[in-house]
Amino acid sequence: MMKVSLARLGSAVRCQSLQQWWLTMTATTVAETDWRLVRARDGLGLVTFLAIVVGWICNWFGSSGFVMGWRKWALWCNRLGLVGGETNLAAWLLGIQTIKIQPYHLPPLGPHDVKVRIKALGICGSDVHHFKTMRCANFIVKKPMVLGHECAGIIEEVGSQVKSLQVGDRVALEPGISCQRCSLCRDGRYNLCREMKFSGSPPNNGSLANKVVHPANLCFKLPDNVSLEEGAMCEPLSVGIHACRRAEIGPDTNVLIIGAGPIGLVTLLAARAFGAPRIVIVDVDDCRLSMAKELGADEIVQVSTNIKDVGEEVVKIQNAMGSRIDVSFDCVGFNKTMSTALSATGVGGKVCLIGLARTELTVPLTSAAVREIDVVGIFRYRNTWPLCIELLSTGKIDVKPLITHRFQFSQKGIEDAFQTSAGGGNAIKVMFNL
Ligand SMILES: *[C@@H]1O[C@H](CO)[C@@H](O)[C@H](O)[C@H]1NC(C)=O
Ligand SMILES: *[C@@H]1O[C@H](CO)[C@@H](O)[C@H](O)[C@H]1NC(C)=O
Ligand SMILES: *[C@@H]1O[C@H](CO)[C@@H](O)[C@H](O)[C@H]1NC(C)=O
Ligand SMILES: [Zn+2]
Ligand SMILES: [Zn+2]
Repeated sequence: MMKVSLARLGSAVRCQSLQQWWLTMTATTVAETDWRLVRARDGLGLVTFLAIVVGWICNWFGSSGFVMGWRKWALWCNRLGLVGGETNLAAWLLGIQTIKIQPYHLPPLGPHDVKVRIKALGICGSDVHHFKTMRCANFIVKKPMVLGHECAGIIEEVGSQVKSLQVGDRVALEPGISCQRCSLCRDGRYNLCREMKFSGSPPNNGSLANKVVHPANLCFKLPDNVSLEEGAMCEPLSVGIHACRRAEIGPDTNVLIIGAGPIGLVTLLAARAFGAPRIVIVDVDDCRLSMAKELGADEIVQVSTNIKDVGEEVVKIQNAMGSRIDVSFDCVGFNKTMSTALSATGVGGKVCLIGLARTELTVPLTSAAVREIDVVGIFRYRNTWPLCIELLSTGKIDVKPLITHRFQFSQKGIEDAFQTSAGGGNAIKVMFNL
């Protein structure tokens, strides 16, 4: 108790419940403490704050009775709703493999924003990259950042101009906020906007928090028969949907998917929903392959990590398909996976690069060019949430089997969850229930 910083004590003023108070007190704040949390809201808050300061000083000199006194005072003021308000807690990435639950001061609610109480959030591959290395592709985490972007929750407050949503609505959140002014945005290709502010991608704070403020037009109402967890799965599913749209998947396209991780599996579900008659999926991990089989892949092929095996594996894959491969999705992005995709795809087909494991690839591009293979790039997604929600609500896609692990939003919960997700193997989607 004696080592607790003044800032931490101050932040307790605004706590709603004893549990949150305890979480706040035990969080390692100090430098990251937002001093705005300490600001007393009204007269009583100021008195409470002063009581805390005096209590802290008494505590320093070993008098505990007064400390108990201010605790009770603070608790009763909170119970009666006289002081404080909300302490919003979030999972902050502070350094390599270091995540801490700490208070998060929300930005003000703009007229077109809503405040959402987050109820379900899935860990993404990019979150794991940030956790392990403080970076993902060209994005580098330079200061503490709230993680997470695959989420759904319940509307708690709406901005003055919001007409489409009401308090209590269950919504799935699209995490990318584009400028809506540039030519790409006006063209509808807003995912390519240069000004994109994407939740949980540096420097933008993410959504692994009790509450977030988000533009209302990026919150999509969920029907009663779509759960909040399924709502959170709209984000990874959107990648599969966007890839299938870009590759023009339909009843005439046989599909090869390389990689049976979360993105490979949502691509499988999306390709099936788009009508692909035959889908072959390959991976190095037999656990993930059996999952793909359960989710409806027609054939699975286990491959090695050795680039020398590409030739014979391509023959195996083509035999497994039994007819022409029209579209291949590389959900990994290694020299080997992209070489396999380019070589296995039939004349005049398409190869779609979704996985971005490497920034540069060495691949047999010339031989693909003379077979008129189109290489299609994918960056996130656009306009996918309404379709995702429709596919989930009509039962054309079932994402529930992809959720393999669930954790609570606590310090131990987040540490275990990130370790589980980073471990790969049988962990496909790791979900938080908040
Ligand atoms: C993330 O939150 C912290 C603390 O509230 C704030 O200092 C920082 O500016 C936020 N990041 C962005 C990009 O808004
Ligand atoms: C890809 O292939 C090139 C050329 O053989 C090689 O230099 C590079 O290291 C390879 N990349 C990976 C990640 O294996
Ligand atoms: C879910 O509800 C929608 C209407 O909101 C309905 O069209 C759909 O058939 C329902 N899905 C299932 C699986 O019951
Ligand atoms: Zn994601
Ligand atoms: Zn734009």
